[in-house]
Amino acid sequence: MIRARITGTGSYMPEKILTNFDIEKMVDTSNDWIVARTGIEERRIAAEGEYTSDLATRAAERALEMAGVAASEIDLIVLGTITGDYPWPATACIVQKNLGADNAYAYDLSAACSGFVYALSCASDFIQSGRGKKALVLGAETLSRIIDWQDRNTCVLFGDGAGAVILEAGEEGDEDGILSSHMHSDGSYLDLLYQPGFGTRHMPNAETLEDRLPYLKMEGNEVFKVAVRSLTSVSLEALQANNLNADDVSLFIPHQANKRILEATAKRVKLKDEQVYINVHKYGNTSGATIPVAMDEAYRGGLLKKGDLVLLSAFGGGFTWGSTMIRWSM
Ligand code: ACO
Repeated sequence: MIRARITGTGSYMPEKILTNFDIEKMVDTSNDWIVARTGIEERRIAAEGEYTSDLATRAAERALEMAGVAASEIDLIVLGTITGDYPWPATACIVQKNLGADNAYAYDLSAACSGFVYALSCASDFIQSGRGKKALVLGAETLSRIIDWQDRNTCVLFGDGAGAVILEAGEEGDEDGILSSHMHSDGSYLDLLYQPGFGTRHMPNAETLEDRLPYLKMEGNEVFKVAVRSLTSVSLEALQANNLNADDVSLFIPHQANKRILEATAKRVKLKDEQVYINVHKYGNTSGATIPVAMDEAYRGGLLKKGDLVLLSAFGGGFTWGSTMIRWSM
């Protein structure tokens, strides 16, 4: 069997930092409340004129550089995002043009915070099937543009950013690469986390704007419970499918939603603190971007070496959730 291997990672975070103290001046909240409930201290905000495609392009350039792969060698680009530059066409096509990846076909994938692991699963299948040899997989968001900055329940949680990986076909019999992907969805929870007024059901207009419908809505408490349950079950599913124990995992890189969700999940999966990568304090929840950004930081920071077992788990709107087990290739 030929596995897909990660041969390059990259990320890009906008320069502007918005701290909890800045948000204290915008809504009725406090740094203490935000840190205690979420672990978030600050987040990045895209500059005016800086779009999801721009963040994604920069992250992709860094991943291509690390892999030593030319953009023209890429066969497929998949971008997990819910904040594309336009509802359509795909932001992945803009990234393709920016990079000059003329031989790739490109599409966006909408699975909210699970967007990156879903995209990774598609690209891994593409390579395993032999249809192509090299893929660029991205998670990129400018959530700051769909946040209701008048709603303290949600505006403290999210941020902007982008991460990317290059996937390449390994050799027959290689033991490293993507070992497994397990993806799930349940549409019955739609209205616990969604953007009601930005599609063809409720087109944005003066009336929907008055009701704040074009912005992200979330029942945080309910989402929290299902998130912990789903992240736990899908992480255990990955361990079981690969005949592994929690102790075997070198690094657990979960979707960075909220420190309490991560800690509760790690405890249930029986992972120790030092096995869990957390950067939510710096960036907040960047939805589809959290996992590739964290992977890039962890690798560049020397936390990952060839042969390490890396477990990714994500949960997001839909609901969608999924896990990926990787034997690290670099
Ligand atoms: N500052 C101060 N008070 C606030 C704020 C705020 N920013 N936001 C809410 N409150 C208040 C509420 O109004 C409520 O007040 P009340 O009791 O007078 O009504 C009180 O704080 C408690 O609110 P809860 O919603 O019960 O607080 P909770 O402990 O559940 O924490 C939070 C809220 C942080 C949103 C939590 O539910 C959470 O993290 N949920 C997960 C949501 C998430 O991360 N979603 C991301 C997308 S999905 C994913 O990525 C996993």
